Amino acid sequence: MKLHRIIVLSALLSFQPITEVCGGTTDSPRHSFSIGEDDFLLDGRRFQIRCGEVHAPRVPREYWRHRLQMSKAMGLNTVCAYLFWNMHEPRPGQFEWSGQADAAEFCRIAQELGLWVILRPGPYSCAEWEMGGFPWWLLKQEDIQLRTRDSRYLEAVKRYLKEVGRVLGQLQITKGGPILMVQVENEYGFFGKDATYMGGLRQALLDSGFEVPLFACNPPQHLRDGFRQDLFPVVNFGSDPASGFKALREILPKGPLMCGEFYPGWFDTWGAPHHTGNTTRYLADLEYMLKAGTSFSIYMVHGGTTFGFWTGADRPFKPDTSSYDYDAPISEAGWPTEKFYKTRELFARYLLPGETMPEPATKNPVMRIGPAEAMECAPLRENLPTALKDSKPRTMEQYDQGYGCILYRTALPMGPEATLEAAAVHDIGQVFVDGKRLGILDRRASKFSVGLPRRETTGTLDVLVEAMGRVNFGAEVHDRKGLHGPVKLSAVNGQTAELADWQIFSLPLDGAMLKNLRFGPPRLHEPAFWRTFLRVDEPRDTFLDMRTWTKGFVWVNGHNLGRFWSIGPQQTMYLPGPWLKQGENEILILDLFGPTQPLVAGLEAPILNQLRPELDFARVKRPQIRLQLDAAEPLLKGSFAPGTSMQELKFPHSVNGRYFCLESVSAHDGKPYAAVAELELLDVSGNPLSHESWTIAYVDSEEREREDGTAENAIDGQTANFWHTQWGSASPPHPHRLVLDLGQSRSIAGFRYVPRQGAADVGGRIKEYRVYVGDNLIGR
Ligand code: GLA
Repeated sequence: MKLHRIIVLSALLSFQPITEVCGGTTDSPRHSFSIGEDDFLLDGRRFQIRCGEVHAPRVPREYWRHRLQMSKAMGLNTVCAYLFWNMHEPRPGQFEWSGQADAAEFCRIAQELGLWVILRPGPYSCAEWEMGGFPWWLLKQEDIQLRTRDSRYLEAVKRYLKEVGRVLGQLQITKGGPILMVQVENEYGFFGKDATYMGGLRQALLDSGFEVPLFACNPPQHLRDGFRQDLFPVVNFGSDPASGFKALREILPKGPLMCGEFYPGWFDTWGAPHHTGNTTRYLADLEYMLKAGTSFSIYMVHGGTTFGFWTGADRPFKPDTSSYDYDAPISEAGWPTEKFYKTRELFARYLLPGETMPEPATKNPVMRIGPAEAMECAPLRENLPTALKDSKPRTMEQYDQGYGCILYRTALPMGPEATLEAAAVHDIGQVFVDGKRLGILDRRASKFSVGLPRRETTGTLDVLVEAMGRVNFGAEVHDRKGLHGPVKLSAVNGQTAELADWQIFSLPLDGAMLKNLRFGPPRLHEPAFWRTFLRVDEPRDTFLDMRTWTKGFVWVNGHNLGRFWSIGPQQTMYLPGPWLKQGENEILILDLFGPTQPLVAGLEAPILNQLRPELDFARVKRPQIRLQLDAAEPLLKGSFAPGTSMQELKFPHSVNGRYFCLESVSAHDGKPYAAVAELELLDVSGNPLSHESWTIAYVDSEEREREDGTAENAIDGQTANFWHTQWGSASPPHPHRLVLDLGQSRSIAGFRYVPRQGAADVGGRIKEYRVYVGDNLIGR
């Protein structure tokens, strides 16, 4: 294996301790970074990368220095940062590098504070970020294939990476800057195996002026997918470093071992329990890596907040919360947690010669505000822009709209009781007839139809659709928002008609739209903006208490703080002090359903772990399904091997079926629980089937109170979370059944089972199992 040796001009440098100021201005001595036989080499000396991930757009720019100082004080010597393409190129060819998008300034501050930088420019970043970082306008091309060699995609990628090179190239260590390494794509192995595609991106980065080492990250089970000798591999894992590095050594016999993402916690999705990490195991795994001399990056050291429209969604469709606290060592508001201090203590024992750790920055003060009642109200449907006309409803990208909401209006003919059905709704649709809300369409439950009563006259049908952030993982990133037609009306008398001649109202909820709102008296039970002004004498951080509101967005002095949803687990929104001003502050709240009380209040601490399932308008109740396994013969039965490795099993012959059922008969620890981190189904050539349109048809048991053991975790592509049967208020025995609905009959030749990851003693690892495939495994 050819070693990645890059010797940089500074050969003149004699041996000296690691300087605290990383690189510096063009006239300071240049440093060199390279990948050696066994270690990373900084100025020719062994350099153990102790890195942590921080996303500049998720931290108020005014606090970048504070958070980076905290990271340094925790004992890191490097920060890792994604770039999000959609933030830097909001429109084709229009680039944005100011304000929250000023990535160069973020790198410079890191450098000043003595932190090196690992840059992850994408083009795909994942990160629970809108569309994984991809710009929505790529989806205007109906059949574009992202993350492939689709020339339209690659052309846009090259333009973007060229711009990244223009702005950040000069911050490479080779030019006196802090950037040590640059990542190509992100966990591509989860998506494909096309090494030529990866090679093309590598070349695009080289052509854009990047000369530091280029690397690629993947989870252990996908390290070979898309692997190239000329891209240095790192492995991502949340636990069990020994197995992770063992898998890495299989493709990297020589060279330093690095974990590109080591998870101290995890992200939250609306309606599922708040995630917290196991601190003891996190510290033990960190010490293991420190002792082993390997390098790592803690994902996230500080999560921050996903402001604005930037939240993504996990697949199949689990929208992410706007809080990205991630149970990280540095909390959403920049507070040092117990995990922070324990990590600092640990790192203090592994500092490299010459490295020091400053005292942590002081905690920013907080304040309570209000409560105050918002009295001004601007109903959304009375603040509509000029409509477009269209014979059929299309997705918002086709109307040149990226984010926000969109209202579809058409005439509803008089007639008998009927069902209104759309092909799909991305993501939450409210159906109004003559202004009265009659039903909700909910992508989480694939609920795309509502019943309509008998109508004596022609009426006005409104379908208000909210886009909740495009899926950031898998093929599902091709996530077009709005109504997916046709929209049909099926009357009880069997007549069906496609509704046509629509008015389309784009509601991008951007500055231009917000400044023209017309306010009036309160109107509680409909989609409306609410406004109030709050006097603040001394602006400080606070946490807006959203518990009397239902679902929507908040703007403070024009800053879009992001989404709220009363179902939780997040119930407060972080409001950074620097975004408030002394005197009058405008608080604007769009509630798409209406508050129980229009109260605006700020608390001194966040509430991130309060689920309120009773408030979920279409609580994802599993449809009442009858499992019909008695008549079915298992296609395969056997025992899974113990441990965490992915296991691939082939059927004696390929079969066709719409449903796949995994039945656990026993567990390796003898307990009544079953868990699955990930399930993949294989086609006749052994390739994983796309998860697009997969849903959970049936599951006998899932833990949804004490932890997020929802069944969707088994098909979301992430191996760090898992389906787990109930253990909180009950412990039903085996057999446990999980049935996947593939949406249509598919030819299946085998499957891959990824057991629950983590330490040897975690529960739920299935031992004996049976597998069924067919079209009649379930009955309604
Ligand atoms: C993956 C991705 C990250 C992020 C984490 C989960 O490994 O690479 O961008 O999505 O999972 O937080």
